[in-house]
Amino acid sequence: MPAYSPGFRSLDAEHDDLSLDVDGEIPAWLSGSLVRNGPGKFEVGGRRVEHWFDGLAMLHKFRFDGGDVAYSNRFLRTETYRRAVEEGTIASQFATSGSYLDQLKSFLGDPTDNANVNVARVGGDYLALTETPRRVRFDPETLAVRGDLPADDVPGHHVTAHFQRDDRRGETVGYATEFGRTNRYRIYRVPDDPPGPGAGAERVPVASLEVERPAYLHSFALTRRYAVLVEPPFVVNPMRFLLPGSGGFIDNYRWRPERGTRFLVFDRESGELAAERRTAPFFFFHTVNAFDAEGHVVVDLVAYEDADIVENLFMSSVEGEAGRPDSGPELDAAEGELARFRVPVEEGTGTTVERRDRYTGTELPRVAPGARMDRYRFAYGQATAREGQNGLVKVNVETGEATEWWAEGHYAGEPIFVPNPDDAAVPEDRGVVLAPALDTESEQSLLVVLDGETFEELARAQVPHHIPFGFHGEFFPEVVS
Ligand SMILES: [Fe+2]
Repeated sequence: MPAYSPGFRSLDAEHDDLSLDVDGEIPAWLSGSLVRNGPGKFEVGGRRVEHWFDGLAMLHKFRFDGGDVAYSNRFLRTETYRRAVEEGTIASQFATSGSYLDQLKSFLGDPTDNANVNVARVGGDYLALTETPRRVRFDPETLAVRGDLPADDVPGHHVTAHFQRDDRRGETVGYATEFGRTNRYRIYRVPDDPPGPGAGAERVPVASLEVERPAYLHSFALTRRYAVLVEPPFVVNPMRFLLPGSGGFIDNYRWRPERGTRFLVFDRESGELAAERRTAPFFFFHTVNAFDAEGHVVVDLVAYEDADIVENLFMSSVEGEAGRPDSGPELDAAEGELARFRVPVEEGTGTTVERRDRYTGTELPRVAPGARMDRYRFAYGQATAREGQNGLVKVNVETGEATEWWAEGHYAGEPIFVPNPDDAAVPEDRGVVLAPALDTESEQSLLVVLDGETFEELARAQVPHHIPFGFHGEFFPEVVS
């Protein structure tokens, strides 16, 4: 078993506001809660889920107050969770297929609510999110489920768990892919000020585009003027979803490099497709940031040569078991490239997409909230290019200069930058970076606090057990209890 295997081990313990031992000093100004999402349990009814993305959702909360930190964690007690624990029934998900009936149901309108990918605040609601169109509300104080947001007028079967915030316009933007007789990408916005009482979190259509072979899309880019769907050639014939034995959702997608990767640039005001540009094929999960510049959009993202990364995150691969092609402990092999794409949009700017690679070996990228949609300097991410550990990195996206943090045998997760509210003049790296890490020697996890400017470790808060590798989180300054 690889040393990182506790990262794929189920966690049974749940805590409520457990005070953590802190080594070092957490800045006293840091107030609020980091809420993270990810799989907490990988076995259902004696069967192991097929893919890292399919474990049962667990929320983790680190609440900061005056230099202290308290930890709470709780399974997201959804219908999928209840059926898994009480009946031993496994839901059809990303790569894990339930019964054929369940598979059909998940396509036709009763998709899983195992929202284990991300969290977001939209309007007054705190949401746990995944890639099915379920939006599970939770209580940020207790982490208890409060029920789903109701369905609305924006249809879609495969959605993003990565919303984009636009504080200037006061809206949250997302997209969905609708499968059917025709297939469509649909971009929508959720205004902060809903048009009427009870209309919070209502999605308003912005743009849509018919596509013959929809791609697997995980996140997108937003600039002040444009919403950009980046479409890698990892595509599906949606009829496959209806065939018996078609496996989990992602098993139906095929890598078609001859199509190249497309940038679909939509005007946020008019909804028109302002530009469609094709470039050499690459795959990606996560955009970093984007902005408008001289008639172009600049999109930074973490690119892969192809979609093999999806295969490499099957449980059989990460655990080094036989049974899949190229099986082996592949976690160390993920070499995402932080790349900058300059995409011509306006007339007279040509059609050629320029690519510049900035840093090799990163994932789960983030930027300071104040840096979004503007020309910016710093991206934060995992540093994955060393065997036996995952570090963290701060990349200057203008120069490619990188500052890294490593600790032997530690696997760090998504770093989240929190600005120091007393130092708003230079918001981009004046603050702290918070990231979970698994210490493979003690098989326990910790929360690392780094100085945003120097990237040096300020403190670590010790969790009394391991935390399975998770995905994404958000810092909510207003969640103080
Ligand atoms: Fe993601």
